[in-house]
Amino acid sequence: MENILYIDSCVRKGSRTDMLARYVLEKLDGKIHELRLEDMALTPLDGAALDKRTALTDSGNFSDDMFIPARQFAAADIIVISAPYWDLSFPSMVKVYFEHINILGITFEYSENGIPVSLCKAKKLIYVSTSGGPVYGSNMGFDYVKALAESFYGIKDILYFDAQGLDIAGSDVDAAMENAKIDIDKSM
Ligand SMILES: Cc1cc2nc3c(=O)[nH]c(=O)nc-3n(C[C@H](O)[C@H](O)[C@H](O)COP(=O)(O)O)c2cc1C
Repeated sequence: MENILYIDSCVRKGSRTDMLARYVLEKLDGKIHELRLEDMALTPLDGAALDKRTALTDSGNFSDDMFIPARQFAAADIIVISAPYWDLSFPSMVKVYFEHINILGITFEYSENGIPVSLCKAKKLIYVSTSGGPVYGSNMGFDYVKALAESFYGIKDILYFDAQGLDIAGSDVDAAMENAKIDIDKSM
């Protein structure tokens, strides 16, 4: 059975992004483990946390609870991320989450030439977003996650789904959401 990790950075009640992500999750077959980033209340790495973490990773001691999120991420078969489009990117919780799971010795290691080599099981990552206006060019939040997934976690099968323009006056939110679901149906 596939081990699915759902990383949810939605904070609004009735979040459209979470709704779309759950549509994706329904299409997957496996055991879903949900991480609600808001509830995890992860803090950005400060000097003390970085010193502690470096001492532990240098000594190869990964038993500390601070490594639980990284171990979960490394063990997942499929990663689903829901991230509303905030300030052309994602909520900062997502960046803080990646700071916590990008752990040398758990999610990746370096080759002799200094190239990151994945220690993650996942072969597939699905990023789901919704935006108030149009996303011109690309979604920089997704671009960042895609770059990390490809270069650090060795994930090649990466899907992006979104519904745009949801907050524009007079926009047909239901139609935009339905279109996003049609996109999901076609790809999954
Ligand atoms: C803090 C914040 C920043 C936002 N920044 C953008 C933005 O840069 N571009 C945009 O099109 N919409 C922006 N929006 C609108 C959201 O992307 C939009 O309402 C989205 O559908 C919210 O997702 P949710 O329903 O899952 O909360 C922002 C909303 C918030 C609360």
